[in-house]
Amino acid sequence: MGKRVCVMGGAGYVGSALVPRLLERGDDVMVYDTYWYGDIFGEMRNCKLKEVRGDIRDRSKLLDNIKGMDAILHLACISNDPSFDLNPSLGRSINLDAFHNVLDVARQNPEARFVYASSSSVYGVKKEKEVIEEMIEEPLTDYSKFKLECEKILKAEARDLDYVIVRPATVCGYAPRLRLDVVVNILTINALERGIILVDGGEQTRPNIHVKDMVGVYEKLIDSPSDKTRYEIFNAGDENHSVRELAEIVRRKVPNATIQINPVKDQRSYNVNSDKIKRFLGFRTSETIESAVESIVDAYREGKIIEGLTNPIYHNIKRMKELNIS
Ligand SMILES: NC(=O)c1ccc[n+]([C@@H]2O[C@H](COP(=O)([O-])OP(=O)(O)OC[C@H]3O[C@@H](n4cnc5c(N)ncnc54)[C@H](O)[C@@H]3O)[C@@H](O)[C@H]2O)c1
Repeated sequence: MGKRVCVMGGAGYVGSALVPRLLERGDDVMVYDTYWYGDIFGEMRNCKLKEVRGDIRDRSKLLDNIKGMDAILHLACISNDPSFDLNPSLGRSINLDAFHNVLDVARQNPEARFVYASSSSVYGVKKEKEVIEEMIEEPLTDYSKFKLECEKILKAEARDLDYVIVRPATVCGYAPRLRLDVVVNILTINALERGIILVDGGEQTRPNIHVKDMVGVYEKLIDSPSDKTRYEIFNAGDENHSVRELAEIVRRKVPNATIQINPVKDQRSYNVNSDKIKRFLGFRTSETIESAVESIVDAYREGKIIEGLTNPIYHNIKRMKELNIS
C-alpha cells in the first residue's frame, strides 16, 4: 500500500522530480508550497496529489492541513546563498524561525517519519580528502549556518520524533521546475546559449548528484526501517569533481563550446563521502554527471528551456527579486 507523504517545498527543483515519482509508485502526496516558481504540476492533475498553497511561516495553515501523514519531508526554504543574502531577515524567518512550526506539524503526525533537507555546505572548506558525517561542521554562510542550526534543534529538542537528516550535494540535471543556478546546470546552459563555459578558478572540488538520484535518496529515507534512519545524518552525493572537470564533461556534450577560466570568486571546496547511506540504506546511484548534462542538453534542444540564462523562473535570486517576496 502507498504511503501518505507531505512534501513541504515540493513545488521546487527537487520536489518537481520527487512528487511525480511518489505518485507513480502509488503514494498519496500533499505538496505544501508557496509556489514561487509556478504551478508546475498543472498538467499532471492526479487524484492522489493534493496541493496546498501555503507558507511554512503560517503556523495555523500548516497545522490545519498536514494531518495523518506517514512521512513529512521538509524541503521548503530559501535555497541558496545569493537569494538568502538578498534579504537576510526573510531568509532567517523561513530557514530558521519557521522550523519550530514545522516541528509542531511533525509532532501532530505521530506516525510520520520526518526528513530534513540540510546541505553538504554545512561542512565548509575542509582540508581532509573526504568529508564524512562525523566531522566538525564549519558553515561559512548564513544559509549553511541555519541549516546546521535546524539540525541542532532536531538533536536537542526533537528526540520524540522519528527524524532523519540528509545533507545533499549540489543537485544537477533536468527536472520540471528547473534550476539553472546550480553549478553543473549553469555550466551547461552557458555552453548551450553562449558557447562559453565560464569557470571560476576551476580547481575547487564540488560534490554533485543527479536529481533522479536525489529522488532515490528520498525514497530510501522514507522507506527504510526506523532503526536504520532514526536520528541519523546522511551525506548524499555522487561524484566529486573539480569545477574544471565538470566543465570538461560539459564540453564533451556541447563540443562547439569553449572553456573560459576566470579568477576564483567562490573558494568553497569539499569532497563528500556518501558511503554511509550506501552501507546503512543500500542506496545506489543510477545516473552520472554526464547523464545530468545530457538531460539539460536534450531538454534545451526539445525547446523545454526558454531563455535559460535570463528567464527568472530558472534562477532563484532573479525570481525572488521579480516577486519582491517579503
Ligand atoms: N538543489 C540543491 O543543489 C540542494 C543542495 C543541498 C540541499 N538542498 C536543499 O534541498 C531542498 C530543496 O532544494 P531545491 O533545489 O528543490 O530548492 P527550490 O528553491 O527549487 O525549492 C524550494 C521550494 O520551497 C518553496 N518555499 C520557499 N519558502 C517557502 C515557505 N516559506 N513556505 C512554503 N514553501 C516555501 C519554494 O516555493 C520552492 O518551491 C532545500 O531545502 C535545499 O536547501 C538543495
